[in-house]
Amino acid sequence: MGFEIKNICCIGAGYVGGPTMAVIAKNCPNIQVNVVDINKERIERWNDPNFENLPVFEPGLKEIIEKCRGKNLYFSNNIKENISNADLIFISVNTPTKTKGLGAGFASDLKWIDKSAREIFKYAKGDTIIVEKSTLPVKTAQTIKDILIKSKLKLNEDPDKRNFYILSNPEFLAEGTAINDLEYPDRVLIGGDNQNVINALSNIYLNWIKEEKILTTNLWSSELSKLIANAFLAQRISSINSVSAICELTGADIKEVSMAVGYDKRIGMNFLNAGPGFGGSCFKKDILNLIYICQHYGLNEVANYWQQVLNINNWQTSRISKIIIEKLFGTIAEKKIVILGFSFKANTNDTRESPAITICKELLIEGGNLFIYDPKVDPLQIDIDLKKGNQENNEYNTNEGTWSFTKNIYTALTNADAIIILTEWQEFKNLDWLKISKLMRRPAWIFDTRYLLDPKDINHIDINYWRIGHGNSNLNDN
Ligand code: NAD
Ligand code: UGA
Repeated sequence: MGFEIKNICCIGAGYVGGPTMAVIAKNCPNIQVNVVDINKERIERWNDPNFENLPVFEPGLKEIIEKCRGKNLYFSNNIKENISNADLIFISVNTPTKTKGLGAGFASDLKWIDKSAREIFKYAKGDTIIVEKSTLPVKTAQTIKDILIKSKLKLNEDPDKRNFYILSNPEFLAEGTAINDLEYPDRVLIGGDNQNVINALSNIYLNWIKEEKILTTNLWSSELSKLIANAFLAQRISSINSVSAICELTGADIKEVSMAVGYDKRIGMNFLNAGPGFGGSCFKKDILNLIYICQHYGLNEVANYWQQVLNINNWQTSRISKIIIEKLFGTIAEKKIVILGFSFKANTNDTRESPAITICKELLIEGGNLFIYDPKVDPLQIDIDLKKGNQENNEYNTNEGTWSFTKNIYTALTNADAIIILTEWQEFKNLDWLKISKLMRRPAWIFDTRYLLDPKDINHIDINYWRIGHGNSNLNDN
């Protein structure tokens, strides 16, 4: 039996659901794509007549929404109707780390997955393909099947009345390059146990992706591969960040070491940029989830191995705050510090798990006066992030330091003691350093936690320059 997909519903209009469905709608003009969410404000923003107000910033996204919205791409809070009309439903809801109860601090919170499965059961009319797009613990497809099968039994529903088929199709896009990643993915992974159903989903992707890029596996391999891919990527960052500390103490330079190591084809050049620690909504939560799964199966050594990737990441972020404080004579109380970049990486407005949050909090606790600039992050989001307690310390003492958002870097820099580059936004490369040098108080510092600047652009000015994986690097070192 073949499946013809004419109507897709995606549950979850977030950083994955929005861009992914936009790219499907663009490449499949004959399929109607409905993206639904419980969050009213988010849907309003996806439907905003002003395309600058979309809730997700991604290069290239606005143009696709302009082209497809209202034609074959719709955003709505009407979950019931869109589920009942769908031939295929993507579940693209959030799966954060549980904060309470069994597995708190490690396991994924699957309450939104559970709710989605129950809503599908309630509203789906005919045969329906359910696709796990969210990142999930291995074996979640079994949970979804159980919910659907047991619900059918309870209602005494005719077994032939409706059929539900489950696929795993994890998403590998990275924020900031989401549209490019979706248009030209390294691979599309589909896990399933029914070839006709796998073909139905493959046929959607075949509208723009070559067949050899579509990998099919069993359900469990697909679910697990997503967690492992993220764990491997995060592991590379922790590895290179650990080496950055050795470089700073020995006179080696992290860029040169990365290049020398990465030229080996077996290692490769990508993902070897040292920085202030990885952020983003997924690496940490997915590794915590992997650790939880290992512990569940009694694989404590494996759990400890992956835990170390997270430990190095936390260490790297706090190591940077410490260096900044030490270089500023051990006290930053009432010193003016300009923070350049707050998002967890460039080209996104997302701040989830951004190392900037931890570093700013650590500087605020020390009494620093922070002026924060980011080209895309909403200051209200920064306020939420800086007020939110971290796990160890539920509240930080806001009375110690102060912060404000600044739209003008040069105004903020008047009499400033330090600049800290926390996100690799390219615009920071083109600042007028001579002008900045005249504005800052002495001794002045630039802390480049992303190895972003070219020392040639700043070695003619009288500002101390520290960069990750290198240490102090200009003539004015003290
Ligand atoms: P998100 O928080 O941006 O979006 C999830 C959306 O789902 C929210 O808007 C929420 O309101 C909505 N939602 C939750 N329950 C719902 C329900 N029952 N009905 C309707 N809407 C509901 O999350 P995200 O960043 O898009 O991530 C989604 C999933 O994709 C996660 O599992 C994540 O691990 C995975 N993932 C994320 C990325 C990324 O770059 N952000 C990349 C790959 C995979
Ligand atoms: C990551 C993965 O790259 C995606 O494949 C995956 O789909 C996604 O997680 C997910 O599952 O959510 P993302 O977190 O959006 O994507 O962005 P990355 O480019 O991976 O960056 C993550 C963090 O690592 C950022 O803070 C970034 O600055 C940092 N990073 C990245 C480094 O410090 N060095 C590097 O070399 C690369």
